[in-house]
Amino acid sequence: MCGIFAYTGEKDAEPLLLEGLSLLEYRGYDSAGIFMPGKNLVKTSGAVTELRAKISKSGIEASAPSHSGIAHLRWATHGEPTEKNAHPHVDCTGDVYVAHNGIIENFRELKEALLKRGHTFKSETDTETLAHLIEEGLTVGKSFEESVVETLRQVRGTYGLLISYAKEPDTIITARMGSPVVLGIGNGENFIASDATPILKHTKDVVFLNDGDIAIVTANSYRVRTLKDESIERPKETLDWDVSEASRGGYPHFMLKEIFEAPEVLRNAMRGRVIASEGKAKLGGLESVAKRLEKIDRIIIVGCGTAYYAGLLGEYLIENLAGVPVEVELASEFRYRDAVIGKNTAVLAVSQSGETLDTLEAMREAKRKGALSLGIVNAVGSTIARETDAGVYNHAGPEISVASTKAFLSQVTVLALLGLFLGRSRKLSEKKGIELVEALEKLPELAEKVLAESDAIKAIATKYRTARDFLYIGRKWSYPMALEGAIKLKEISYVHAEGTGAGEMKHGPIAMIDESFPTLAIAPKDSVYEKTVSNILEIRARKGPVIAIATEGDTRIEELAEDLIYIPDVLECLSPVLSAIALQLFAYHLAAGKGLNVDKPRNLAKSVTVE
Ligand code: G6P
Repeated sequence: MCGIFAYTGEKDAEPLLLEGLSLLEYRGYDSAGIFMPGKNLVKTSGAVTELRAKISKSGIEASAPSHSGIAHLRWATHGEPTEKNAHPHVDCTGDVYVAHNGIIENFRELKEALLKRGHTFKSETDTETLAHLIEEGLTVGKSFEESVVETLRQVRGTYGLLISYAKEPDTIITARMGSPVVLGIGNGENFIASDATPILKHTKDVVFLNDGDIAIVTANSYRVRTLKDESIERPKETLDWDVSEASRGGYPHFMLKEIFEAPEVLRNAMRGRVIASEGKAKLGGLESVAKRLEKIDRIIIVGCGTAYYAGLLGEYLIENLAGVPVEVELASEFRYRDAVIGKNTAVLAVSQSGETLDTLEAMREAKRKGALSLGIVNAVGSTIARETDAGVYNHAGPEISVASTKAFLSQVTVLALLGLFLGRSRKLSEKKGIELVEALEKLPELAEKVLAESDAIKAIATKYRTARDFLYIGRKWSYPMALEGAIKLKEISYVHAEGTGAGEMKHGPIAMIDESFPTLAIAPKDSVYEKTVSNILEIRARKGPVIAIATEGDTRIEELAEDLIYIPDVLECLSPVLSAIALQLFAYHLAAGKGLNVDKPRNLAKSVTVE
């Protein structure tokens, strides 16, 4: 949520800042702003294109280039997404500029006191209080750094901050509490951003800040300290990410590109992690907690959105393969409901970004109560990845489209590996282990086959483009997929969609069915096939159109469904990986066919760092 980008060096800051912002657009995009010392502040409601246009109009380009600056993309939390509320925010003197991700919880008290002391506010945001507090420090003769530190000592809340002081144009101060901040260390230039994506083009050397860190960054130096006047060393890391991974690569949308990355993503999730001949999984990230894992008698999976649905599949997979009891909880519920945690409980946070605040806090809560904390995370170096006791990375590469696609496939694959890993040290036989590994290894090739159906799926999506509602049904392994399929459709196409267990349909949802209310039935030839077919018949009896996802070669279902999407035959517990690709393509084509901004659906953000 929200994105920050800053530059200090010898180059003209403006094009670098605008480019950096555009690479962060997936994080939040209802307003944007930029400040470069020596130039006027420019802000806009809208995204980077609007900001660029406004800069051209403002004429600030004509003045001498500025060699530093801070830029921000906002996803509104306090105050409307207007130009006035866009960041950076400025103090009364016009010298202090602040861009902020996160929320200052005690801003009302702080603002009231500042108003009494004569400050004038230009926005409704919590962030502006910071600019005025820093101003007060500077006015009584404190240094820029001291004024920032003094201010942060007074605030409660979360922040990823960028602060620029017009009188010290080369220096940018950044601070982190709950919202990620990464420094990019270049040669005679340094960068700061909310994640590494916009930095990679310039340098692969990065420093991840921890909560409580404040960094003083100039073109040639960076220094990290705490609120308590201690200076700290944060190691420089070299990332081996490829920047082109973060560009669209010829596809009309990142979402389609990311769906088409499925085979590679599946391979990456499994690479080096299976011992085929023994039917075992080797998860290096869990080695440090191997002893504790042996004693684990209960797992609670926490996540939000699509990651939560991957967690539901995780429950089925781990219980089926390892016989360890698993519960899955929405992270936003778990953290507030006084869950009972035993010393042999493991809490597993599933998160693509590794920054979703509810997931992070749920994991922290469990950790406080003594649970072993584990993570399945895609973003390397993210907060969840760093704070869990141990975990497994997805290695799915950056996921830019707001709706999660390839990360989901990877999460399910890693959960299957985890089930195998736990299972083989418990009840799972070598034979079953080998069978699963063989099926897993075939998945990338089978995923290619589903992707080859993209045009056929597009034709079906086009046929249903005007439908106002959809019901998604599935049983057993396909039940979580009904939920995931429905969320995918509603988030990008704004069409009402409801997912339910096929068996649960007759307890309510079926009342909605008529000839204008289509159902997408996920009905592979599995152990509950007959039951799902009965539910399809119940829908047909009420004249509801049915699109079925079925197993190749299933001719019986041809008579029942109006439209069919075939997926290859696969070991039952892995069918969700293939149906997920079909469901993603269906949602994508339906939304793209409506001409919607598929990668950045309205009101949604990729990384949700507010509660
Ligand atoms: C947002 C995204 C979803 C994602 C969820 C959890 O709501 O729009 O696509 O599933 O956050 O994100 P995470 O990064 O924790 O997996």
